[in-house]
Amino acid sequence: MAASAFFFIHTFIFLLVISITPDVSSSSSSVNTESKTFIVQVQHEAKPSIFVSHKLWYESSLASLSVTVTGSHPEETSRIIHTYDTVFHGFAAKLSPLEAENLQSLSHVIAVIPEQVRHLQTTRSREFLGLKNSGNAGLLKESDFGSDLVIGVIDTGIWPERQSFNDRDLGSVPAKWKGQCVAGKGFAGSSCNRKLIGARFFCNGYEAANGKMNESTEYRSPRDSDGHGTHTASIAAGRYVFPASALGYARGMAAGMAPKARLAAYKVCWNSGCYDSDILAAFDAAVADGVDVVSLSVGGVVVPYYLDAIAIGAFGASNSGVFVSASAGNGGPGGLTVTNVAPWVTTVGAGTIDRDFPADVKLGNGKTIPGVSIYGGPGLTPGRLYPLVYAGSEGGGDGYSSSLCLEGSLDPNFVKNKIVLCDRGINSRATKGEVVKKAGGIGMILANGVFDGEGLVADCHILPATAVGAANGDEIRKYISMASKSHSPATATFEFKGTRLGVKPAPVVASFSARGPNPETPEILKPDVIAPGVNILAAWPDNVGPSGIPSDKRKTEFNILSGTSMACPHVSGLAALLKAAHPEWSPAAIRSALMTSAYIVDNRGETMLDESTGNTSSVLDFGSGHVHPEKAMNPGLIYDITSYDYVDFLCNSNYTTKNIQVIARKVADCSGAKKAGHAGNLNYPSLSVVFQQYGKNKMSTHFIRTVTNVGDPNSVYQVTIRPPSGIAVTVEPEKLAFRRVGQKLSFLVRVQSMAIKLSPGSSTVKSGSIVWSDGKHTVTSPLVVTMQQPL
Ligand SMILES: *[C@@H]1O[C@H](CO)[C@@H](O)[C@H](O)[C@H]1NC(C)=O
Ligand SMILES: *[C@@H]1O[C@H](CO)[C@@H](O)[C@H](O)[C@H]1NC(C)=O
Ligand SMILES: *[C@@H]1O[C@H](CO)[C@@H](O)[C@H](O)[C@H]1NC(C)=O
Repeated sequence: MAASAFFFIHTFIFLLVISITPDVSSSSSSVNTESKTFIVQVQHEAKPSIFVSHKLWYESSLASLSVTVTGSHPEETSRIIHTYDTVFHGFAAKLSPLEAENLQSLSHVIAVIPEQVRHLQTTRSREFLGLKNSGNAGLLKESDFGSDLVIGVIDTGIWPERQSFNDRDLGSVPAKWKGQCVAGKGFAGSSCNRKLIGARFFCNGYEAANGKMNESTEYRSPRDSDGHGTHTASIAAGRYVFPASALGYARGMAAGMAPKARLAAYKVCWNSGCYDSDILAAFDAAVADGVDVVSLSVGGVVVPYYLDAIAIGAFGASNSGVFVSASAGNGGPGGLTVTNVAPWVTTVGAGTIDRDFPADVKLGNGKTIPGVSIYGGPGLTPGRLYPLVYAGSEGGGDGYSSSLCLEGSLDPNFVKNKIVLCDRGINSRATKGEVVKKAGGIGMILANGVFDGEGLVADCHILPATAVGAANGDEIRKYISMASKSHSPATATFEFKGTRLGVKPAPVVASFSARGPNPETPEILKPDVIAPGVNILAAWPDNVGPSGIPSDKRKTEFNILSGTSMACPHVSGLAALLKAAHPEWSPAAIRSALMTSAYIVDNRGETMLDESTGNTSSVLDFGSGHVHPEKAMNPGLIYDITSYDYVDFLCNSNYTTKNIQVIARKVADCSGAKKAGHAGNLNYPSLSVVFQQYGKNKMSTHFIRTVTNVGDPNSVYQVTIRPPSGIAVTVEPEKLAFRRVGQKLSFLVRVQSMAIKLSPGSSTVKSGSIVWSDGKHTVTSPLVVTMQQPL
């Protein structure tokens, strides 16, 4: 199937990206190549009283293992990389496989979880920049609204001097705040202010895996040497800055979603990735420090929740009342690509905004091909046509690698003084431009491959360049090959049109935005929502050029980036605003407000399109829809969820008591939960059922949902059912009459379907919705039915 093939390709690209970054671990001699970092969960209460601290106890457990198992480690004073005691109890340490196994057998050890490495979720894995438009700036311009809220951004650190982080007119730091401003290389303890109220860094897991970091290429401190963290933090809570632009593009006012909210930066991502043991340490610190929201634009592995440090950390955070939003991932447009899918996390996909940067290609045959670009340098001579070649043509170089314009692959004789068409993939898009420029080319057309479809990402290129979709790329290649056969060489030029506003249709689901079904729990629809994640303007550090490539020495206070990384902090900022308006709301209530008020129509009034195909998108692409800040403020009803409900959900997902303990830190009694039903019965604001058709011709299930009135005291809600085609859906009762705020009422949803013809191993997804309305509020839940024909 196309979906799984696509998934494979992405995994492949992902590995290549890792391999082109310097692999420090292979040159590090003191590291036992067999050992690996493990995160170890212990029974907190089991500590014998002779140990004055948990850390000493952990060290002693480890020491006993080492002597008997692998010999002593006399050079090390402590093998502990991190200790955890807020969202998790235990420690991280480097262990041999045998040590890990032996540790697991100790009675006070609950779990030994192997560390994984994660990556940032911009569309190029490290070098992309974004452009943003928060959209709801009017909501809270002059008030102090949101100023008691703290957003913790777990990312690549921060560039504190940016105007987006100034603290003018902000009140004193919230009294509850217990965080710190940790000094380090290039980052003074005084770098924080009343806006950026905390900054920490976590690199022990990174260094345990990679050896010591190279301090001439990255800062051992909260300072951002990448740009991603500065960008995402300013999307969530940047102050108003005017004028703002990136290389003259997207001029205007820049502001984050919650301009008065405070920020705390937790740096966990380094040159070769973000390590689980560090991420968990950041969660632990952020919750202890007193953040209200955690924003995590890092992603990518789908494993059971009890093996997933992000899911575990997020559960602890949610249990402490902290809202966690995470990027869905950039593995789209294939299915089953969504990540960060735990039901206590708000999973955010990306959509476009109504602004783009058109940069057309004019071909010698008179055709105009639409493209997008953020190129701010000297252009080509207007009106003049330049020779155009395809880098992958015979004579261009060595075929495959030259078609992609990989480093050193282009023959200067072939490309000199020409515009070069390069295929997208493997190396970063801006790097291809650098390769073309180095070989003497004067411009670049970047063509999507078939897997990228028609989705375009505007980049801050270092030479005149534009990006075109897959079909248009084919057309240009065809023109080049025809022209060369007819002996009148192909020519082209660019037309850079700057910033275009009011683009229709928008939003459109971004091609790269990761899609459902949820690979871990198909009974929970993910992503939950989409938010702006294409061409987002936000703050950028001084030491990184806007294209992100090392040779780019341009400086820009703002940059334009795309990715679900950019979508996630929009929701983080919005969550802070919702919490400011409704301090008593749980993280699940905030998410419910965002989901049930989300919209699925674009600015033409039609169902949002999918950028990759130009066709209508579906719930598997956008979840509940695109977030609507104003409506989320006043949702009418909410679907609330407690930690007990999540434990029931884990029981119904057939997790063992021990697995549940790893996540929830308590011994669960699953007998009640099992009686109550199935995993889809979690009080989630969307409904998803998976029917296995094997040997049945009629299938049915039911959901019980409970809504809490957060609107007017006396309000009567009536249900409207929009059943998926061919599926019978009933709701009982059809009317909910509330008499007070805070009152909870339940209803039952029955879903029935006849089996349909499907080939073995295939499935089909149908969607509809259930809408409660009191005439004032519209509370919408998507209802998704997946029919599967087992093999
Ligand atoms: C650190 O990075 C710099 C700049 O890339 C390089 O010249 C140097 O050799 C690196 N040092 C080590 C120890 O790898
Ligand atoms: C888009 O929709 C058209 C018309 O319904 C359909 O023929 C085509 O297969 C769709 N394309 C994709 C990629 O789904
Ligand atoms: C859990 O196990 C039961 C009984 O085997 C099964 O019916 C159910 O589908 C399983 N649930 C999940 C989420 O795997």
